Amino acid sequence: MLRVARFFVAPLLLVLIALGVLALTSKPAAPAAVINALGERPLVIAHRGGKGLWPENSLFAFERAQALGVDMLEMDLRLSSDGELVVIHDSTLQRTSNGDGAVAEHTLEHLQALDAGYHWSADGGQSYPYRAQGIAIPTFAAVLERFPKIPKVVEIKVPDVGMEALVCEALTAHQQRDRVIVGSFYDRSLQLFREQCPGVATSAGPGSVRLLVALNWLGLGGLLSPSYQALQIPERHGELEVASASLLQTAALRGLNVQLWTINEQPDMRRLLDRGAHALITDYPDRALQVLGRSTRISALHD
Ligand code: G3P
Ligand code: CA
Repeated sequence: MLRVARFFVAPLLLVLIALGVLALTSKPAAPAAVINALGERPLVIAHRGGKGLWPENSLFAFERAQALGVDMLEMDLRLSSDGELVVIHDSTLQRTSNGDGAVAEHTLEHLQALDAGYHWSADGGQSYPYRAQGIAIPTFAAVLERFPKIPKVVEIKVPDVGMEALVCEALTAHQQRDRVIVGSFYDRSLQLFREQCPGVATSAGPGSVRLLVALNWLGLGGLLSPSYQALQIPERHGELEVASASLLQTAALRGLNVQLWTINEQPDMRRLLDRGAHALITDYPDRALQVLGRSTRISALHD
């Protein structure tokens, strides 16, 4: 009996000691300049530049979203076959452009000749107002050059092809390391980026989100020392409620800026802001601005 008790007591003690050490040494996320600069108010982030309003991931979209007064532009990065960072969401060309095949199998020259406004329609395909308007797939460099000031959420879409170093180089060259949050659906990509680009703010990868959800569920969220500054999460993942009030509270206490995607309906926007969301990533930034009582007027566009 005594032996059985010892068998359980020793590991339990070890676990308790480990938890105690973690509790004493855990630290909230280091503050990120990009988030601090945005102040305390809830943020409106134009998802792919506001894909509900105009063709996604285009200079045209980013220009109008900026003029609308959004706080951040969100965009997706991939590599062309000749190693250039291009701003496009899908791995293939057919949904958003008049091209066909994989992005990664085409040169920059070929990609830039495509019409990236070809398939955008606000009336279910009755009209295509942005066809042949000169809307192209931009390079990341062009976006950084054209929009030097506005903070950005930049998503690395492809791991294991060297994009992390290229993103870091581009941010450094354009002096925008303190103006972005870098995200990815690949934890290994984020880990590599953090090593290669120290000091640049990142969001949690899926593994980190799972760990946070599990710790919070166990009531141990206070043990987390995040290596990231933002938490970009959906409200739900299938049956699982990810962005619970409790998770949002824990994340805020760990110093994280909680950014919810992709929130397009105004009742959802209100509900999630009331729950404690710090930012809404939305295809309709005009709706979010309206919910927040901010202007939805597009100011003069700079050429
Ligand atoms: O910020 C996260 C969000 O952008 C993920 O969705 O598929 O539009 O890249 P997706
Ligand atoms: Ca994205």
